[in-house]
This record gives sequence, C-alpha cells and structure tokens, in this order.
Amino acid sequence: MRTRFPFSGIALCAALIGVGITSSFAADETLRSLAEKNGIYIGAILNSQWFNGGLPGNYEQIHKTQFNIVVAENEMKFDATEPSEGRFNYNNGDKMVKYAQQNGMRVRGHALAWHSQVPNWVNNYKNDKQKLLKVLKNHIENVVGHWKGQVAEWDVVNEAISNNEPQWRSYSVWYQGIGPEFIDSAFVWTHAVDPDAELCYNDYNLEQGINPKAKAGFLLEQVKRWVANGIPIHCVGSQTHVEDTTTDKHFIGSPDSLRSLARELAKLNVKLKITELDIGFKSGINVSKSDLERQGQTFRQYLDIVLEEPNVDTYLIWGVSDKWSWLSGLNRQKGLIYDDNLQPKPAFDSILVRLQTFEPPQDTATTDTTTTDTTTTDTTVTDTTTKDSIGLPIIPQSAGLGSVTMHIAGHTLFIAGTLSAKVDVFDMQGRPVFSTKCEKGFVELNGIADGLYMVRVRSGSANLVQRIAVK
Ligand code: XIL
Repeated sequence: MRTRFPFSGIALCAALIGVGITSSFAADETLRSLAEKNGIYIGAILNSQWFNGGLPGNYEQIHKTQFNIVVAENEMKFDATEPSEGRFNYNNGDKMVKYAQQNGMRVRGHALAWHSQVPNWVNNYKNDKQKLLKVLKNHIENVVGHWKGQVAEWDVVNEAISNNEPQWRSYSVWYQGIGPEFIDSAFVWTHAVDPDAELCYNDYNLEQGINPKAKAGFLLEQVKRWVANGIPIHCVGSQTHVEDTTTDKHFIGSPDSLRSLARELAKLNVKLKITELDIGFKSGINVSKSDLERQGQTFRQYLDIVLEEPNVDTYLIWGVSDKWSWLSGLNRQKGLIYDDNLQPKPAFDSILVRLQTFEPPQDTATTDTTTTDTTTTDTTVTDTTTKDSIGLPIIPQSAGLGSVTMHIAGHTLFIAGTLSAKVDVFDMQGRPVFSTKCEKGFVELNGIADGLYMVRVRSGSANLVQRIAVK
C-alpha cells in the first residue's frame, strides 16, 4: 500500500527574484516532507516523558515537523491500557492520537500480546487456559475497538520468539497458559474488530539472517504457515535495535540480511516495516566524530531498504534525542539521530540527504507486483526545475533562502549573507565527504573529485541545502 504523495517542496523563487534561479531543494525541507515525496513513513516514538509534559518545547516542534508516523513508547501497552482487570485507561493513548490527528500523522499501536509489561493480575490466571483466552480476547476487543479507525496499524504480537536456537519464547504468560495458538487467535480477534487496520508481528534480531537457525528464518516459516492458513497478518515489524558494527564484535546483523527478509516476505504478499530503529554504541566508550559518521551510514543503509523495496514502507526510530532513550538500560548509548541538546547528528544529515537524492527506479510502478496496492504511483511531481544532461535537477549557480546564498565556481564555494557558516558536503548517497567552517565568504572544496554533491550551509537559523556540481 505504498502511496506516492505529491511533491511538496517549497520553491525558492521568492527569495531569488533577480537571480533568476529555481531550486528543487528548499532550505526548510524536512525528513517528513521528503519522506512524503518518496511515499514512505518516517517516524519516532513519543517518549514517555512527552506524555507527562516533561520535555522542552522544541522536542514537540521537531517531532511534528520531521515525522509523519508516531507510536507511543509505553502508553498503549497492556499494563498501561488495562492496569486492573476490565478497567481500561486510554488517557495517554488518546492524547497521542489527538496529537497525531492535529498534525496529520499516522498512528501505530504497540503492542497487544507481549510477554513483557503485562500487569500482575494476568499472571494469576497462568494455569487457566480458558480464562487467559478470555482475558486476551477481551483486551484486544476493548483496546482495538476504542481506537478503531484511528490506529492504522497494530503490533498484534510482539517478541514471541526466543533468541537462541529459535523456538517460541517459553516464559511468556500467553505461551505458557495458552500455547502458540495465542498468536493465531490474537490476529483473528484484532482483524474482527478493525478489519481496516494493518496487523504486524514485531520482533528484534531479524537482521541476522534468514537461515532456520536465525530468528528471521524461524519467523519466515511461521509467516508462511499463517498466510497459508488465512491468518490475517499483513506485516512483519523489524525492531532493528542494533549496535554500531565496529565497536561490537558480536554484532552480526546487517542491512543486507534485513533486505533479504523483506524480499522473502514480498513473495508472501507481506510487508516489512522498520519499527524501532536505533544504532547504539557500547556504554562507556568514547564516541568520535568518525564513529558518528559511520553510524549515519548505517542509518542510511537501513533507509535504503525502505526506499528501494516496494513492500517496505516505514522507517521508525525508537526515540528522538539521545538524552531520552531506553538504550542506557541495554548498556548502549547515542543510538538516535539528535544529540542530547536536540541538535541533529551526522545520522540526521545522512538520512536527509539520502531522501533528497533518492531517484526511484523508472520501473517501480510496473515491478511492484508484490502487494495488492491499487493506489497509483505519482510520477508527475510538479518539479519545474530544468534538468541537466543526465536528467538530474539543475545545478543552481546560486540559490538561497532569506539572506544566505551560495554559489559554486569550479572548486570554490561562495557563501553570501553571513559572516560565519558551517559547510557540509555529501556525496549523492548521503555520505559526508567534506566539512569545514566558512569565515571569509568562500571555501575551497579541495580534495573533492569533480561531480555532483549536496551541500548544506548552516548559519544561525538559516539552513540551506543545495545540489552543486564541482568541476
Ligand atoms: C521499551 C521502552 O522504550 C522502555 O521505556 C520500557 O521500559 C521497556 O520497553 N522492544 C519493544 C519496545 O517492543 O516496547 C521496548 O520499549 C523496546 C524493545
């Protein structure tokens, strides 16, 4: 169900009258506007602190401008929504749904049947299968019913598979009390209450290969069985809580493995969604600038799956700022795309630039046979820019917003309208290649090969991103 949204970039013409140039890259483009242009969802949880009003105002401002899908960190879980038997509490969830509606965002529901964050009263029935079945059914009917039509997708079952020698997770109250059929039942009940909601199985370590000894291999066999049996499952959520590769020898996951899983799921007409992404470093280690840049590249590689695989539509990050992240409990740090001061990290730039530069393959619309998607692919973006010889948008000689402008001549980048600016140059894959401060109106882009680049100039509140040709 990949929908292409119409192009929403804001032309810079108003600021450029007299210069006679248009650019397809507006300085105020956001992850959200670019995700919508590319027909994908990009999101971040609303942290538990947000629900208590404990976050600075710019947190919410960032959240709603940069993201178009939202999920609650803890507030729609079983213990939050049914803290005592039959007494439901929807206050926090309602607050988030209202926020999402006011800001035009999609809502994910997380999570219905999970072994964790289950209130104690449920455990009282662990030896009573019939009662437990009733408890789970009643929970689903009430919670899904309450948000019917408002929560677009649910994690119906979360983390039901154990990590080693994959098998069902045996210490779950649902598994112990009911058996693995709790999963089939949960999907069927959810679908009966809200037939329009997308229903996911969600788990972690799914980026570690799809052989039968890996979790994703075991899961794939179950998905085949569910699909064959008519169980209403529409998506697999890959949590994707991973560690930065070079600081953890035990890291064995990879974006390529996750891509393979996506392709196997496509054959079953099932989507993949990246639902809880973070790429942390071990706690206690010193994280250098180049570590953060490498982290940005890993963020980009996971984004590439969402951009390139037709049955992958969602890129959701488990937090906004490193300051409020669950990762410390996992002995990890700095796994998100904004730093402690809510400033964008290299990972943010890497995602932004990749979204700006991604060119969908020409045959996307015709090769997408994997979903029953009837929406039309919007290839008619209102992009009025001229194209260069290889069909890319023009390389403006000069463009700007407000008073800050830039233009390139050979290898010299001229920046006008500010005395001091930070300049970052990225290749067309979003990889940072050069970074410097501009103090005297121009910088030499020495050591950069001729070619196309994205340049970002930051000065005060000005934030200009532009495609340039170095030659
Ligand atoms: C985590 C929350 O971030 C924490 O605040 C909470 O204490 C524990 O749960 N997989 C999931 C999420 O499906 O619900 C978890 O969220 C992170 C791992």
